[in-house]
Amino acid sequence: MLKNKKIVYFCQECGYESAKWMGQCPGCKAWNTFVEEAVSPKKPASGGMKPMEKRQDPVVLNDIRLSEDERQTTKIGELDRVLGGGIVPGSLVLVGGDPGIGKSTLLLQVCRNLAEKQVSVLYISGEESLRQIKLRADRIGTFTDKLTLLCETNLEVIREIIQRRKPEVVIIDSIQTMFHEDISSAPGSVSQVRESTNILMQLAKGMGVSIFIVGHVTKEGNVAGPRVLEHMVDTVLYFEGDRHASYRILRAVKNRFGSTNEIGVFEMRNTGLEEVKNPSEFMLNGKPSGSSGSVVACSMEGTRPILVEIQALVCQSNFGIPRRTAVGTDFNRVNLLMAVLEKKVGIRLASYDAYVNIAGGMKMTEPAIDLGISLAVVSSCKDIVIPDSVVAFGEVGLSGEVRAVSMAGQRVAEAKKLGFETVILPEVCRKSLGDVKGIKLVYVSWIQEAINYITHK
Ligand code: TYD
Ligand code: MG
Repeated sequence: MLKNKKIVYFCQECGYESAKWMGQCPGCKAWNTFVEEAVSPKKPASGGMKPMEKRQDPVVLNDIRLSEDERQTTKIGELDRVLGGGIVPGSLVLVGGDPGIGKSTLLLQVCRNLAEKQVSVLYISGEESLRQIKLRADRIGTFTDKLTLLCETNLEVIREIIQRRKPEVVIIDSIQTMFHEDISSAPGSVSQVRESTNILMQLAKGMGVSIFIVGHVTKEGNVAGPRVLEHMVDTVLYFEGDRHASYRILRAVKNRFGSTNEIGVFEMRNTGLEEVKNPSEFMLNGKPSGSSGSVVACSMEGTRPILVEIQALVCQSNFGIPRRTAVGTDFNRVNLLMAVLEKKVGIRLASYDAYVNIAGGMKMTEPAIDLGISLAVVSSCKDIVIPDSVVAFGEVGLSGEVRAVSMAGQRVAEAKKLGFETVILPEVCRKSLGDVKGIKLVYVSWIQEAINYITHK
């Protein structure tokens, strides 16, 4: 038996395969990550050609009928949005995230909602005992008898149980704990994770059962084990969030059934994860009023505009080289905007330290927050207070021009909804916006015009 097996070396960080051991992985440049694993030679692909009666003829695309109501809602609006409208039968979804961020909690809540709708759910945990799951479940609420639990890590057993009990939804709590007997390497290794996912994929596609897989994340922020995992599943969701903040963001990195731009915002309470229906209001909580160096900007996350406070602190540098830091946004972008302010607007920043922060700990990289960052820097540098009722958005170009951004209408509508009175926005958006009542629109073509507006106000 063993002589049929081949020894190969896998990088445990990225799944790079090599015939011999190497110190540094050529794929991801990580050191000392190769581990020996025995693999059986690949079987010939399903025994060659299928018999005539089993072969499929091509079908006309227009003849394929889909019904939207096939999707199963989880009754958690934020999660449905990220999934693209609910759970698709037969889909394989990977949920990644740091330890303790709330993956198990969220999935247990999904189980509760589905079981309430009389959907049969099987929760398989390889990490926690039944007692531990029960303790968590007690915090979350009451469950119907449609939810069954299983503590198991052997995939052959799991396969057999799924085939026998035919649940509609299955949760696998952590793919890194699952193993297959035929593979000699340890659970969590590349071959194990790959084989386990393969089996789960066959189950999902073959039986139409939707499977959620929990995956741990390495310190680099990838799902631990091979990157191949991401290629195999239909949807990859990542849980992000500051350890110290109570909110959590669920982001779709890959989605075969929906958009990948959508985010879901949650807050960790003592009764589990609570949806945050209005993230803007949540993010602006605690914004100081009447202080310089702070302005509200607007960034689109998927189809949803989110208002955030951008803070800047500009102060005299004590060293030859000024210090610059950016938290929650792109550092190089901040440097670029400061260079534009220096050269095109004539604000002396070369001997000043600058710290820029997106309040609330959210990460935003959309260029539409450029105008907000620039105004916050100017406001702090000149000690001008920008009124609380102002929102600014627009991309800033290298000549100091304020460029168009997408979906200006939605951004203005969000500002209006939250009671803001003035919006500073690119002149180019005037035509697409038309006449908007109930809010003052200040159109600017150059960054200088926006600065003039806040300094003379
Ligand atoms: P958990 O879902 O176990 O995280 P993961 O599966 O991603 O590792 O999250 C647990 C954390 O959330 C833990 O630190 C305790 C906290 N928590 C709450 O604050 N409230 C709750 O109702 C629950 C169930 C957990
Ligand atoms: Mg967990």
